[in-house]
Amino acid sequence: MRLRFTLFFPLVIAVQGIWSTNLANIFGPYVSNGTEFAASSDSDFFQVASGRWSTWQAPKFQAAIKPVTEADVQAIVRIATQNRIHFLATVNGHGTSLGFGKFKDGLNINLGNLNSVSIDVENNRLTVGGGSTFGDVHPLLFAAGKEIQSGNTICVSVLGATIGGGIGVQQGNHGLVLDALMSVRMVTAKGDVVTASREENPELFWGIRGAGANFGIITSATYEIYDQTNGGNVVLGNLEFPAATNRTIWEILRSYDDELPGKLSLQHSITFNHTTGRASIVLGFIYLGTMAEAKPHLDRYLALNPVATTIFNQTTTTNMYNIFSGACTPGAYHNEYMVGLGKTYIPAFESIFSQISTFCDTHPTFTGQVVAQRYSNDVMMTKPSGDTSYPWRDIKIYILINNIYDGPSLDDEVDAFSKKIRATFQSADGFPSPQIYSNYDHGDEGPTALWGVNLRRLRTLKDHWDPENLFGIGNPIR
Ligand SMILES: Cc1cc2nc3c(=O)[nH]c(=O)nc-3n(C[C@H](O)[C@H](O)[C@H](O)COP(=O)(O)OP(=O)(O)OC[C@H]3O[C@@H](n4cnc5c(N)ncnc54)[C@H](O)[C@@H]3O)c2cc1C
Ligand SMILES: *[C@@H]1O[C@H](CO)[C@@H](O)[C@H](O)[C@H]1NC(C)=O
Ligand SMILES: *[C@@H]1O[C@H](CO)[C@@H](O)[C@H](O)[C@H]1NC(C)=O
Ligand SMILES: *[C@@H]1O[C@H](CO)[C@@H](O)[C@H](O)[C@H]1NC(C)=O
Ligand SMILES: *[C@@H]1O[C@H](CO)[C@@H](O)[C@H](O)[C@H]1NC(C)=O
Repeated sequence: MRLRFTLFFPLVIAVQGIWSTNLANIFGPYVSNGTEFAASSDSDFFQVASGRWSTWQAPKFQAAIKPVTEADVQAIVRIATQNRIHFLATVNGHGTSLGFGKFKDGLNINLGNLNSVSIDVENNRLTVGGGSTFGDVHPLLFAAGKEIQSGNTICVSVLGATIGGGIGVQQGNHGLVLDALMSVRMVTAKGDVVTASREENPELFWGIRGAGANFGIITSATYEIYDQTNGGNVVLGNLEFPAATNRTIWEILRSYDDELPGKLSLQHSITFNHTTGRASIVLGFIYLGTMAEAKPHLDRYLALNPVATTIFNQTTTTNMYNIFSGACTPGAYHNEYMVGLGKTYIPAFESIFSQISTFCDTHPTFTGQVVAQRYSNDVMMTKPSGDTSYPWRDIKIYILINNIYDGPSLDDEVDAFSKKIRATFQSADGFPSPQIYSNYDHGDEGPTALWGVNLRRLRTLKDHWDPENLFGIGNPIR
């Protein structure tokens, strides 16, 4: 196999430890003009390498390369493999998992230049480059009167979210982001380009939709798109409730366990104000429809006398995504955990609320929050369960334990605290075993919690497409 490549790319033997300062010689002749290189010691390294959202367990790169074309990606994979340079392709570096922290001294392949977006309005198709973000996509779709289910944040890459699942406020309308995926072009471990879709390489297409970082580098992808819901107008509410209201908030959440309108999303953030010494619940209320439709749901919350209320009436969907973009700010130390829930167990929520309040009060430098996202999964559940390798379509509430603090000195305490909270939630999650969304995992849950019964089939697929284990260090399937 290796021999075949040498016909195209003369084998360049990199001297151990020196390859990173020799990038122009190793890669330069085989990539297009415009491909940038930098060693980690170069002053322009951070322009060439992809951005990084969290400093917690960040991958460490010895060098970075920023290709321009799909053929560049092929050449980079082939040459890096020949030279035993391990690599990690990223877009904006939102992946947080212990797995990423295990990546040391390799090459960053920054996909940021592969950010093309094209829309075929007539056939309802969107084609994006492997490095496009939701922020690249939404304004263009909006202008065309179209929409797609999406992550909520514009900085996240379309493919990065898709290949793990892709959850967000539009999922009640259209399902997971991966449900809209029609086909991908992917650079394989051999440096070939293959297409995967329902018709071509269907087994690979199954695997990509749930464990996609494990098989190759996707250079472009085509999605189904839809006419805008309610002309792109939504109702957004931001309401803050005092701690004393917490049980009532969880009671309302539980009342939506069996039936949540597809257009309604509820995002509860348990936050703590170190000035007042009080915890509160900030509710993000999103209704993809008219104020009249939203009102009965909104009124339930307004009746609780929130201490702060902002309601954006008839806001366009593009603006909605801009409003959510606060979470994009990079550079903080985020140590994340997640739990998938199939139901609301009020005593667990109440106990956790009080534990968070106490933990924050006794840790003045801790500014994290616990977020409970409730999205409708009714549309998702209509897809056959074996259709994709994403296994957890029955998650109703996504809990994100978003720990933010100064750095490693608090790790042990935060980890112990987070594991306790996770266990409390999981003791009454409504599932036979833990169900973890891989795009939000911590990295200690094990692959069965991420892929369940699909794990065996995924490993067989992995043996076929990536026997040398070049891809997927962030969330490995083996
Ligand atoms: C602020 C923030 C908000 C978020 N909001 C949401 C949300 O609303 N909904 C949701 O579902 N998720 C959300 N996420 C999670 C997000 O989907 C994952 O972190 C995702 O992996 C990010 O992809 P990325 O390319 O931006 O990050 P990166 O760290 O650059 O990449 C993450 C992983 O995807 C792989 N990857 C990226 N692009 C490709 C490609 N083209 N081909 C092959 N592999 C690729 C990388 O190799 C890596 O393993 C959020 C994350 C953050 C930090
Ligand atoms: C390569 O790109 C640079 C900068 O865009 C340009 O100045 C140069 O002429 C190009 N070289 C070739 C061979 O195309
Ligand atoms: C905390 O409370 C104080 C006093 O009410 C307020 O001024 C401040 O804005 C609050 N901080 C945050 C982060 O909400
Ligand atoms: C929202 O829009 C409707 C119809 O245009 C209007 O009657 C109502 O007062 C608005 N509400 C808010 C909170 O702006
Ligand atoms: C949450 O609500 C319950 C029930 O009203 C109350 O007993 C408890 O004190 C509240 N928690 C906090 C931290 O205020």
